[in-house]
Amino acid sequence: MSTMACDDRTDLDEQTSKDAPQSPGHPAWLKSAVFYEIYPQSFRDSNADGIGDLPGIIEKLDYIENLGCNALWINPCFDSPFKDAGYDVRDYRRVAPRYGTNEDLIELFRQAHGRGIHVLLDLVPGHTSEEHEWFVQSKRAERSAFSDRYIWTDSAFHGYSMPFIGGESERDATYILNFFKCQPALNYGFAKRDQPWQSAPDSQAAQGTQAAMIDIMRFWLARGCDGFRVDMANSLVKNDGDDKPETIRVWQHMLGTVKREYPQSAFVSEWGVPKQALAAGFDMDFYLDWRWDGTGNGYNLLARNVDDALDERHDHSYFSAVGGGSIRAFLDDYLPQYEASKDYGDFCFITCNHDSPRLAPRLTARERAIAYGMFLTMPGVPFLYYGDEIGMRYRSLPTVEGGYARTGSRTPMQWDDGDNLGFSEAPATVLYLPVDDADDAPTVADQLDDEHSTLTWVRRLLALRAEREALRASSSFAVTTAPDDGRVFAYRRCSPQGEELLVAMNPGIRAERVFASSDPAHDAENRASNEQKHIQAAATHDPLISLGSYSWDQDGLIMGPQSFAIFALR
Ligand code: NOJ
Ligand code: CA
Repeated sequence: MSTMACDDRTDLDEQTSKDAPQSPGHPAWLKSAVFYEIYPQSFRDSNADGIGDLPGIIEKLDYIENLGCNALWINPCFDSPFKDAGYDVRDYRRVAPRYGTNEDLIELFRQAHGRGIHVLLDLVPGHTSEEHEWFVQSKRAERSAFSDRYIWTDSAFHGYSMPFIGGESERDATYILNFFKCQPALNYGFAKRDQPWQSAPDSQAAQGTQAAMIDIMRFWLARGCDGFRVDMANSLVKNDGDDKPETIRVWQHMLGTVKREYPQSAFVSEWGVPKQALAAGFDMDFYLDWRWDGTGNGYNLLARNVDDALDERHDHSYFSAVGGGSIRAFLDDYLPQYEASKDYGDFCFITCNHDSPRLAPRLTARERAIAYGMFLTMPGVPFLYYGDEIGMRYRSLPTVEGGYARTGSRTPMQWDDGDNLGFSEAPATVLYLPVDDADDAPTVADQLDDEHSTLTWVRRLLALRAEREALRASSSFAVTTAPDDGRVFAYRRCSPQGEELLVAMNPGIRAERVFASSDPAHDAENRASNEQKHIQAAATHDPLISLGSYSWDQDGLIMGPQSFAIFALR
């Protein structure tokens, strides 16, 4: 990888992206946002019924603020039969009684805002629960305003190239699913139509679905919510091909409408193709963990390049000290996506989420610390999954609420050595999921005052991120070192004001030089050596933050085994 300078990135705040005229501006608060994802079932149980709740989240807002996070994403907290942990919504306008009341959620917005914390809820626009009133109406044989709110074929014996269910309704038809059996797909129409029962995306039925979803967003935004993480955002219009033009158009309309009314609202998509998601009007898209038949995308290669989440022996993740290789494979996937999207919004790193295996215990504390060093200093808005800041472990557990393999990443937060590790005063037998019963299960209380703990490291990284403009979401990014045959990775982040930082890491077990470019196609030798001199001259001082060893010699920087450091260059 050749040495590159930081170039200026368009400042995105409060402005309309230049080549995406339909895309509204991004709220300014996102530039310095760091999100904390809360799975509400498992965060803090305030009333000893064994399940986390909204008053429990309110209780812990000081902790979240202290950690350095200034935004929340809360997984669905709406009324639901919970066959998919709440992603099967029965009533979008009602907080699930097990979490509290609508008033509790409004109080959470108020208390969060008092601490400068923004709150995103989770919007599930592609499907509802089969128990949603719209679907109950839609299933009836007689026509109603909801008959075409879902996708129905025209015969009970008629299948299609999508998962469908028959034999469950009075209607002489089958219905199309979006995910599990309990999640019928809402009707946003079909881009390509080859059946008479398929609506067009601009049909009255499809527009009715859009209008209903816009009203749900308005309902919560009017009550103080700051925006939404959007579930399966790319799934709306069916037969929409790889480029998703009609789904993009639907979002441009829905987000355009909502953002005109709530210009400070923010939207992050579960899409995984930032070029499309940002063109659709989202502010941010996730770099999701994707792995099919043993082949991972760039994000997967970094920290989950293994088939079994607990198998450290076969782990070839970049951050695995012994099993990992060059950073290049990640960059081959990441850089084109970053380049294509950087002027339109943010492509965001997560430490984990409720669908992915946690990094512990497969990766060691040091391996994870280096990974967090990268995740929390790359461009985009970072998302920290609850419990990752103390190294909570993925566990092999039987499925709960449709979690299957994901269940092991959804266990109760570990606060202290109290009942159920401080999660709940309920008897252990009634907990939503068992708490980690290992003698050395990490807790917040144990790590808070330990200067070598994962928690302290995350807090220091986030404090630095808050202090330094160059580490903000939209500050520019340029790869400095990424050898084919080595383990080091270094990059520069530059602010529009000229602050320049060098982030360097070596997850491997041998010391390695950072500026020795191994790229044979690297023809900018002179520029590289000039830059090298500049970096050396500038970086004579101590790093702003570091882990492990580093040293400078006349040829540049050497990063010791399993090390991470950030230097101020300007
Ligand atoms: C993605 C969500 O993150 C996941 O948890 C859920 O099961 C599916 N979408 C279906 O809504
Ligand atoms: Ca509770």
